[in-house]
Amino acid sequence: MGSAKTRFVFSTEKATAIKADGVIIPVFKKPAPKTDSKAKDKKDVDPTTTIIWPITLDKALKDEIEAIAVEEKFDGSKGKTLTIRQSSANKLGARRLVILGLGEADQLQARHWETNALKALSGLLGLKDFKSAAILLPQTTENLSAEAAVSLAVDAVFQATYKSMESKEPNPGLQQVTLLSEQKLENTLKQAQALAHARSLVKDLVNHPSNLKNTDTLVNHAKTIGKSSAIKVNVQSNSAWIEKNMPCFFTVAKGSLASDPPKFITLHYAPKSGKAKKKIAIVGKSVIFDTGGYQVKPGDYMVTMKGDMTGGAVALATMQAIAELQPQHLEITAYLAATPNKIDSDAMIPDSIVDTTCGKKVEIRHTDAEGRLTLIDAVAKAAETKPAEIITIATLTGAASVAVGSYIALMGSNEALRDRIATAGRSQGEQLQTLDVTEDDYDNIKSKLDGADIINTSQRKNRGAQSAAAFVMSGAPDDIPMAHLDIAGADMTPDEKATGVSVKTIIQYLLNEEASLGGGGKTGSSKSASTSPAVDTKPVAKVATTKVTTKPVAKAATTKVATKPVAKAATTKAATKPVAKAAAKPATKKAAPSAKVAKAPATVPLKSPAKKGAGSPAKGSPKKPSDRQPPKTKPAPKKKK
Ligand code: BES
Ligand code: MN
Ligand code: ZN
Repeated sequence: MGSAKTRFVFSTEKATAIKADGVIIPVFKKPAPKTDSKAKDKKDVDPTTTIIWPITLDKALKDEIEAIAVEEKFDGSKGKTLTIRQSSANKLGARRLVILGLGEADQLQARHWETNALKALSGLLGLKDFKSAAILLPQTTENLSAEAAVSLAVDAVFQATYKSMESKEPNPGLQQVTLLSEQKLENTLKQAQALAHARSLVKDLVNHPSNLKNTDTLVNHAKTIGKSSAIKVNVQSNSAWIEKNMPCFFTVAKGSLASDPPKFITLHYAPKSGKAKKKIAIVGKSVIFDTGGYQVKPGDYMVTMKGDMTGGAVALATMQAIAELQPQHLEITAYLAATPNKIDSDAMIPDSIVDTTCGKKVEIRHTDAEGRLTLIDAVAKAAETKPAEIITIATLTGAASVAVGSYIALMGSNEALRDRIATAGRSQGEQLQTLDVTEDDYDNIKSKLDGADIINTSQRKNRGAQSAAAFVMSGAPDDIPMAHLDIAGADMTPDEKATGVSVKTIIQYLLNEEASLGGGGKTGSSKSASTSPAVDTKPVAKVATTKVTTKPVAKAATTKVATKPVAKAATTKAATKPVAKAAAKPATKKAAPSAKVAKAPATVPLKSPAKKGAGSPAKGSPKKPSDRQPPKTKPAPKKKK
């Protein structure tokens, strides 16, 4: 179902006069005077000295607001709201005026504007017949540019009106939102809508019940996106082709060949001019449902595993936004190796040694570490097209959520790429924390078995997120910069709803790259030939400078070349080849024909909502597990929290 189809317009009308069902006025709190100890002791709120008003209010309204502020102790603190009703005395244009405290301006982070606007709007949407809102954009601060203010307000509207396809509640029909601003940032608005729309798609795909979701759910949606003339979709559904060309991915698929055979989906975008300046590959983990395989996930750990295709959903939604925005300088391909991780008599078992697209031999030690098995081959396929960089997005390890909580764990082989992604993500209000992938992590995934190069768990049972990243990055040659986003802690809310987190980071990153290559966006506004992002004139990236989140974790020099496991036994032919060559080998040239589905007839993107059995999963299930690799000799019993 997604979000309401809201129309957005800019206006310079006065917030107190505009006719709407509700209007939101954000205010900052004045910084407390440092030396005045008396002020600290003061119990009563004095709104005339604590609130910074962004607009002038007429006397009657000001008196009314100040009286209520005193009564409700509203001082502009972050997250506090004060609601005023329209009356003949105050002559408000809107039925309700919500004054939204944002705290002190220099403490504000971009994402606070979004979360608080969302809260205020959600409150208003509860009103009878609420159809239109106006939002005064906050004054810009060091961390919140005018562009970010627009973008995050739009996302807040999409989020507030979002209903999953399974929801029994109707979508709130918010018809119009007026953004009150002196600047008409039309291009930013267009981009913001594409980003928020993409986020809703991720949520729709992830929230879909596990019994109704399969590889074709992703295929069908890819085809829907492929209806755009700018996008070419290719679906490889021939299992024999996958077995031959992506053998490690195929190993995971062996457990569900009969019920839901694997699909290798690619979506390709190139500018109409045919003259892209940069080629970027996006690879999303697309495990439809992760049971853990034969090393099965204990009951409650399996709950939420319908979300194990979030990376793939992010890759799809990114292409949807790219189809809407059509950058002029980027060629972008999304790769989804889609399969469930299930069991039948042929399913993978531990102690197997399997091939990969890149030529390395993999020891399977844990059937629940399946994501990296699918990704190493998808990354190798992406590398064959020689992109300038590869970005992987995956719900890959419980260890990532232990390390960074609900943040995105951002890793990679290239610090500059990683930093550009972090900057883009933070400007969109997403929380990222960088983790360095070091030599130890590559050592950690060396197999001890004769005949295998790398192992799909971490040998030392630690650094689970980083060693998984090292494994995934081993699929591509060292000269392709890679970034890896582990979103295992970010994909779902504590009450097990999809967040759609990371898709805005990826799309904003692409828009910033487009701008740095000279693109200005199709909707006009100024072109910037510098490194500023593709959002009107000012770089959104600017707002990302927050004290807490921008400090990179220790900057270790992580040279992939030096740290990749060396090919070892002479018994493994492929493993003795130089890594880069093996990965670049065009192993698929004589492959079976793939099903070309570009511009295929429209298919229903998702199955219709299931009214029965589609309720939310059990509450109070345990939090995400960390690296659950068992001890070498005797597997420990799985712990339930
Ligand atoms: N899909 C899981 C990771 C995950 C865990 C995502 C929790 C979201 C929430 C992944 O396939 C997995 O099972 N990883 C194992 C790896 C281990 C067996 C080495 C893990 O993290 O426990
Ligand atoms: Mn797993
Ligand atoms: Zn998984």
